[in-house]
Amino acid sequence: MPFENGLIDLRSDTVTVPTPEMRRAMAAAEVGDDVYRDDPTVNRLEERAAALTGKAAALFVPSGTMANLLALMVHCAGHRGVEVIVGDKSHIYLNEVGGLAALVGAQAAVVANQPDGSLGLADVEAAIRADDVHHPRTRLICLENTQNICGGVVVSPGAMAATRALALRHGLKVHLDGARLFNAAVALGAPATTLTQHADSVMFCLSKGLGAPVGSMLCGEADLIDEARRYRKMVGGGMRQAGVIAAAGLIALEHMIERLEDDHVNARRLAAGLADLPGLTLENPEPQTNMVYLQLDPARGITGPDVAEALRGDGIVLDPGPYGFRLVTHAWITPGDVDQVIAGFRSVLGRRRKGQVCEG
Ligand SMILES: Cc1ncc(COP(=O)(O)O)c(C=O)c1O
Repeated sequence: MPFENGLIDLRSDTVTVPTPEMRRAMAAAEVGDDVYRDDPTVNRLEERAAALTGKAAALFVPSGTMANLLALMVHCAGHRGVEVIVGDKSHIYLNEVGGLAALVGAQAAVVANQPDGSLGLADVEAAIRADDVHHPRTRLICLENTQNICGGVVVSPGAMAATRALALRHGLKVHLDGARLFNAAVALGAPATTLTQHADSVMFCLSKGLGAPVGSMLCGEADLIDEARRYRKMVGGGMRQAGVIAAAGLIALEHMIERLEDDHVNARRLAAGLADLPGLTLENPEPQTNMVYLQLDPARGITGPDVAEALRGDGIVLDPGPYGFRLVTHAWITPGDVDQVIAGFRSVLGRRRKGQVCEG
């Protein structure tokens, strides 16, 4: 469907606005004070999220960052100075404002993400601390699926199972940052439990490709979620008549999961259309989910901001790096929009720069 504002916005799947059905459900939502657990809509959403991830319980929180933070707080509780194994390209390590250090009191043991998004087992094993008076204790391994910076790749159930088996051998827990869990599940053609069974806790976002305006879910065993509920209150995330937003989340889980496949098809269409343009290299020529990463050739003298500015004139909104882009497809991007973006890139990259001859 086209955006209400007429723009083709590929900055992220977080730019999606609620569907008309979501807005109707929000207006009609039955609500109560959720801190007293009196909000029937939130309670229904939490039950549904727990069922979809195969966990005993779930907690509705305002953001993915908060869901990850609460999981880290619970897994590390009462043990300041412990270590958490994270990927070097993980959102928890790179993009959560150092909450692991500042708010959890733990330090990151950073392991390289492999191109398939997983963490190398030998690297993880090497990062697990021996019992030594000098060392912090390792508590937790964090995985991310889909792995955003590795190209929105799906970490395979096999890789997740192997990481979990390693964790179990060392008495560690596994947390899954599944901000885009359902993109991974849809790409696999399997239920989300195929992945979540290999984690002790899992968070997923309603506010990304699923299109809800606000909210993420933390799912796990009942004790873990009870503790997370207390930490949610501590960090100011206890919400009152939150059913107003949970109602959109329920619609997202009912109607927006299967259609994620359309976003994946559009990402592949976008990659295929951009692949042959001069001066551009795709980092993931065959996108597995809804992200296309590309780099411009600096030798051509056209920067990411140059391209973004030129395409903005055509109503195309991009988030440029110095010479690169992450383009994200979502519910408000149509195949026609994709074709317009390809045409826009072709036109900008085909322009002559001062003193330069560009082919095509
Ligand atoms: C992989 C991943 N994890 C966590 C988050 C955090 O979600 P939020 O923006 O809701 O805090 C994001 C956000 O883009 C993400 O991409």
